[in-house]
Amino acid sequence: MAQVRVGILGAGAIAKVHTSILKKDKRVEIVGVADILIERAAALAKEAGDVKAVTSLEELFDLGVDAVYVTTPNTLHVEPVLKCLKQDIHVFSEKPMATSLVEAEQIRDAAQTSKAVYNLGMNRRYASVYKRVKELIDSGEVRPYLANIKMNRGELLNPPWTSNPEVTGGFLYETPFHLMDLSRYLFGEVQTVQCEARQNISESEMDTFAILLTFETGTIATFVTYAHAGWSFPFESVEVYGTYATVATQELEKVMYAPGLKQAAQVSDFFQVSVEEKWGYAEEDRLFIDAIVEGTKPPVSAEDGFRSIRLLEAIYESARTGKRIDFRQTAQ
Ligand SMILES: NC(=O)c1ccc[n+]([C@@H]2O[C@H](COP(=O)([O-])OP(=O)(O)OC[C@H]3O[C@@H](n4cnc5c(N)ncnc54)[C@H](O)[C@@H]3O)[C@@H](O)[C@H]2O)c1
Repeated sequence: MAQVRVGILGAGAIAKVHTSILKKDKRVEIVGVADILIERAAALAKEAGDVKAVTSLEELFDLGVDAVYVTTPNTLHVEPVLKCLKQDIHVFSEKPMATSLVEAEQIRDAAQTSKAVYNLGMNRRYASVYKRVKELIDSGEVRPYLANIKMNRGELLNPPWTSNPEVTGGFLYETPFHLMDLSRYLFGEVQTVQCEARQNISESEMDTFAILLTFETGTIATFVTYAHAGWSFPFESVEVYGTYATVATQELEKVMYAPGLKQAAQVSDFFQVSVEEKWGYAEEDRLFIDAIVEGTKPPVSAEDGFRSIRLLEAIYESARTGKRIDFRQTAQ
């Protein structure tokens, strides 16, 4: 018998991915799908196994859920997450955690007092290419002295709200947030942040960022991100340089490891692997359910999420003021 009764809030593109994965987990029973647009809730509820379609979080609570997946647009994560934590209902929140530092703090505090598991959906940590990078760093094969990170965004038309900062929380809160979280995961906590940014094409916000990061571990990194690249490749890459060694990713498809001078590079190609696996969704969902059922550590805690929001806000602050932000001089 399934041990975790799950409800889904927001029946869009990413909810479909999680539904497909959760349906295969014998520990899970999806009991309801909610969306402000009932036809969307109904369509996903059908896919989830003809479960109940409703229009609000409260109706999911009435179905007796143990856990909720919050898969609404960016600025609509905080309220349902806080309601779940208050009722001790486990919650998987899609990224970003929040779209301001104050809200991220509220979630961090609520997660500390709640009996429920909070997890933030940072799937890149479990993507095949980044697991390989992490493994090479953790094993000491690549000591990360320098990194070069890029995360461009596509057409900003799909879903339509991705071009609206009122809904995204700002361009950096969209896809770039993934690699901000990943850079902390790979290289440790950030020490200083410096950013030059411009508003080029967007009518409402800065859309072009060149960022310089230093980490407590000693790693230094450049991070560039641009909002209107139209998905021209490569839109996402991480290059890490060690002692005569390099590891470089291409999208979420390929990773090249050059272990040293006069040695052949090793290429891992994940083309044949399903998106659910190679983008890290299957593993993050598995680990979230493990945390509920077995009491293990959730993949990305509220404290972790808070630190990534703090980094993102520091980048905006440096962009606005021209100042270098030094976390050693600010309260934690
Ligand atoms: N981790 C990833 O790789 C990844 C990928 C895509 C999206 N996301 C994140 O997931 C979230 C959803 O993105 P998406 O692409 O699925 O968007 P989407 O627009 O396809 O789906 C969002 C759904 O939420 C519904 N909705 C809006 N307000 C609601 C409310 N108040 N209550 C209930 N439902 C509501 C909409 O009607 C829509 O069906 C975003 O925060 C996005 O950043 C993460």
